[in-house]
Amino acid sequence: MKTRTVPLSRPYIDERDEELVLEVLRSGRLSLGPSIEQFEELLAERVGAPYAAAVSSGTAGLHMLCHIAGVGEGDEVITSPVSFVATANCFILEGGRPVFADVDPETLNLDPEAVEAAITERTKGIVAVDMFGYPCELDELRAIAERHGLWLIDDSCEALGAEYKGAPIGSHGISGAFGFYPNKQLTTGEGGIVTTHSEEEWHLLKSLRNQGRSYDSRWFHHPRLGFNYRLTDFQAALGIGQLEKLDRLLAMRSAVAARYGELLSAVDGVEPPLADDADHVRSWFVYVVKVARGIDRDAVLERMAEQGVEAGHYVPAVHLQPYMRERYGFAEGVCPVAEDACDRTLALPFFPHLEAEDQERVVAALRDALA
Ligand SMILES: Cc1ncc(COP(=O)(O)O)c(C=O)c1O
Repeated sequence: MKTRTVPLSRPYIDERDEELVLEVLRSGRLSLGPSIEQFEELLAERVGAPYAAAVSSGTAGLHMLCHIAGVGEGDEVITSPVSFVATANCFILEGGRPVFADVDPETLNLDPEAVEAAITERTKGIVAVDMFGYPCELDELRAIAERHGLWLIDDSCEALGAEYKGAPIGSHGISGAFGFYPNKQLTTGEGGIVTTHSEEEWHLLKSLRNQGRSYDSRWFHHPRLGFNYRLTDFQAALGIGQLEKLDRLLAMRSAVAARYGELLSAVDGVEPPLADDADHVRSWFVYVVKVARGIDRDAVLERMAEQGVEAGHYVPAVHLQPYMRERYGFAEGVCPVAEDACDRTLALPFFPHLEAEDQERVVAALRDALA
């Protein structure tokens, strides 16, 4: 008998979500309709930002922020090697040159000292990331940016619901983007939202996402060059349904993480994710452990797969991706802390409604594989 596979991720969609999406489908207002604004208002309120602009993806949001920041050909932008490639792609697409600063070995987020050391006269900005839903050192990064006259963008695509120094990510005055891919804390299928504390930037974002049209969507009036980065109304409706239950979804994710923590305490050879502290409250996005040095991670993954457990490398270091090596000549040794971590990280199945017995199966498979 073939064992049932425990998937790496699954979206949590309920009848309320279906109802809201159907309502929009039946209304005939599939795009540029009222659900977008409603979703933006609710999400902005949830994260404590005065303004939000819904977009077709987290990448689209980050790209527009880099476009607005005015990244030019050859401008250096400092970012983290421990991220999804979009964190760097968003400014490379504008002509920026990536400079990778190393991460803190515990948080896996940008180490502010490494960021400051990487600044040159060509540096124009910093794209930070709240990796695996763990808030980055926003205040220190902001102070560095201010000291050196740089812009700062927070890639919060993985961090909806996280809190830094007692206030939600999104509320700290720094522009950032959240992503809503199906594995995220809130999903719209594909999609994202940019939060900003500047009314002017908000207007620009709404214009740029709609081919540079006047932000009030005056019919075919285009004062600037823009993109088509619009979210649809049925995606926004799904977002509204997800937002209504976000607290519950986050609590379910925390409970799953806590259960993994207990189960893994009896397993040698893996390090659990970093715990919260007074200044950093993680929003659980994925559950990533580090295998001990010397363990063959690929063999572990293979053995887990044989036992019907989906797990994966998450994430490979960005600067060592083939296109990065080819374009910029990056190689091993550029960011040793990140490289060591990325060589050992392993994402376990993780989603709000992951059953306790499936988690036990996952941990048993991991224990067997490590042995
Ligand atoms: C850290 C990070 N940045 C950016 C993105 C891009 O988001 P999207 O896939 O919505 O474009 C993701 C999504 O996976 C992410 O994890």
